[in-house]
Amino acid sequence: MKIQTKILLLVVVAVFFAVGCKYDWVIPEEVPDIDPNEDVIKFSEHILPIFTDNNNCTACHDGGQIPDLRTDKAYNSLNSARYINKTSPEESRIYSVPHPDTDGHSQKKYSATQAAYIKAWIQQGAENN
Ligand code: HEC
Repeated sequence: MKIQTKILLLVVVAVFFAVGCKYDWVIPEEVPDIDPNEDVIKFSEHILPIFTDNNNCTACHDGGQIPDLRTDKAYNSLNSARYINKTSPEESRIYSVPHPDTDGHSQKKYSATQAAYIKAWIQQGAENN
């Protein structure tokens, strides 16, 4: 093989990899279209697992750090004006503090989907259902 051919081959391979990286795009998260007037959001089924699955929140909020988000404590911890604002659900601290678009609470943020569930749950009256 001629040296020019080798170089050309090397360039082709390099370009191939460089272009390959460019197409390694991030697929945007698909947020479910939750209709708070239609879909019933349940604390036990949709909300609690956000806190406890894989210790997502309970890694830290396990009694030492308020709010206590452990299974048997989470509802009572959140059921106060400090965390839930039924008049303006988006101002609820349990929604706004870990919201993906906010600067605070860098430890952990909700995914867009989780945030959508939390908001819908508050819009439906933040019940212990
Ligand atoms: C790595 C530890 C850690 C994890 C995991 C974590 N947090 Fe926190 N969180 C903290 C700390 C520390 C504070 C207090 C300081 C601050 O606001 O950053 C806090 C504060 C908060 C507050 C405000 C408390 C108040 O009374 O003002 C809320 C609400 C909250 N976290 C919710 C959550 C939720 C929901 C999750 C799971 C999605 C979560 N946190 C995961 C460490 C954590």
